[in-house]
Amino acid sequence: MSIGIIGSGGLGSNVARALARKGLSATISNSRGPASLALLVEELGPSIKAGTVAQAASADVVLVAVRLEGLAKALGGLPAWHGRIVIDGTNPVEFLDPDSPDAKDPTNPLAAYGIKAIDLVGKHSSEVFREFVPGARVVKAFNHLDVQVLSQPEVSGGQRVQFFSGDDAAAKAEVRKILEAIGYFAVDLGSLDVGGRLAQLPFGPLAATNFIKI
Ligand SMILES: NC(=O)c1ccc[n+]([C@@H]2O[C@H](COP(=O)([O-])OP(=O)(O)OC[C@H]3O[C@@H](n4cnc5c(N)ncnc54)[C@H](OP(=O)(O)O)[C@@H]3O)[C@@H](O)[C@H]2O)c1
Repeated sequence: MSIGIIGSGGLGSNVARALARKGLSATISNSRGPASLALLVEELGPSIKAGTVAQAASADVVLVAVRLEGLAKALGGLPAWHGRIVIDGTNPVEFLDPDSPDAKDPTNPLAAYGIKAIDLVGKHSSEVFREFVPGARVVKAFNHLDVQVLSQPEVSGGQRVQFFSGDDAAAKAEVRKILEAIGYFAVDLGSLDVGGRLAQLPFGPLAATNFIKI
């Protein structure tokens, strides 16, 4: 089962790092093209290849690690998904420029973290996300933890919990296999409507909970 990653920032690069630690193969891409990923792939070793967005998007399982506001541009115009599995790693947060007025807004409880909640008017982020990947089987994963801890799945004598959710049992089974191959303790939160809400940052009740299964 081939893996593609769209986005090579905090999330995409650290998932690639976690895959590389187990020798698992993936093609990673970003907006600037494969040449811009030369240093990253050199660091990660031979299992991770740099590719175009189209190459990453042609994999059997594709992780989308792009900010919510960048989805239309990143995913627009890609070939049909035809039931392939797309992992939604997004959260409804806006990343703030430290010099912007928003970054110092006293009414923003997340200003200290450099982010702001995006109001999706009652929707969870996968409800918005799935509109960009028609015909794909969407599984939510990799979104609930800070990327600083994501690349170390085996810690403190146990396994870091990684939540996932989705509406297609077979797609979730494939994603579970990937999570377990990386070394996480994979916990199925149910459907996208249930799990998506529970684990999404910033305000889902399981957001940023860093459980270790011992
Ligand atoms: N940071 C975290 O701790 C964390 C944890 C869990 C989930 N998330 C979620 O993961 C998503 C990404 O966050 P991040 O922290 O990884 O953001 P980031 O560091 O800004 O990285 C975003 C990546 O998306 C790529 N991108 C943007 N537009 C694109 C396009 N049109 N085509 C291809 N690639 C494009 C960027 O490419 P370039 O490199 O070429 O600019 C960059 O590599 C967000 O929804 C965030 O909420 C983040």
